[in-house]
Amino acid sequence: MSPESPPSIEPASGDAPRPVPGGQDPAFVKGAFARIADRYVVTNHVLSCGTDILWRRKVGRMVAEWDPRRVLDVATGTGDLACEIQRQCPGADVVGTDFCEEMLEHARTAGVRETLVADALALPFPDGSFDLVTVAFGLRNMADWEKGLREMKRVIRPGGRLLVLDFSLPSGILARPYAFYLNRILPRIAGVLTGQREAYEYLAGSIERFPSGEAMLRFFRDCGYRGARWIPLTCGIASIYVGTVPAATDGG
Ligand SMILES: C[S@@+](CC[C@H](N)C(=O)[O-])C[C@H]1O[C@@H](n2cnc3c(N)ncnc32)[C@H](O)[C@@H]1O
Repeated sequence: MSPESPPSIEPASGDAPRPVPGGQDPAFVKGAFARIADRYVVTNHVLSCGTDILWRRKVGRMVAEWDPRRVLDVATGTGDLACEIQRQCPGADVVGTDFCEEMLEHARTAGVRETLVADALALPFPDGSFDLVTVAFGLRNMADWEKGLREMKRVIRPGGRLLVLDFSLPSGILARPYAFYLNRILPRIAGVLTGQREAYEYLAGSIERFPSGEAMLRFFRDCGYRGARWIPLTCGIASIYVGTVPAATDGG
């Protein structure tokens, strides 16, 4: 299996409630990430052979080119992306939020300077507070993706950006083999490695349900973002999506 999709980023299941269609059950997600928080970073890096580090590094480089002053990293988890942005944009104020305190404890230890326990669907910030909002492998885990995109848009200033990094589905000749791998091979290997096979079956389902590529760009537009664009990574198994919040004069 390509270990590039870090299975550890998905919740361990146990007897937790099942995810709801169109999004995830927040109690399930919060509890699951609380349980895996201590192992999250190392397991990600081992199972992905470090590819997740390269993806976040690329995001950091993009952000550095935009040179934002105020950045919010939503669903920051253990703070990997927030730290990368702090490293590549030393002049920026970076705030990391997550609704899982156990994950945020690791973010603080890792060096994220400003953290806050907060639900991404009801962010405790005034309208237009940030030049840029980022969310890595977080939107897919939210209970309501549209509400998440709209709430993040609310806290971005007019002309500011949203950047989403998440898993996506490759197209063309890779589509079927990747689906086979995701549904049949990855859960077996990950199950052997971690004892959490069910969690990885859930990972496959969550990736397949999540809007990918052009579908995500349409979703961005429907939620009021302009100039949405998409950068596939590693043959399309992950993608970066960027959209801009229209200035008042854009009529958006
Ligand atoms: C897969 S982790 C991603 C962490 C980090 N962004 C990264 O790149 O490794 C998903 C995170 O999303 C958080 N999350 C999911 N739904 C959320 C919500 N509604 N509000 C805040 N955080 C949420 C979880 O607690 C978890 O820390």
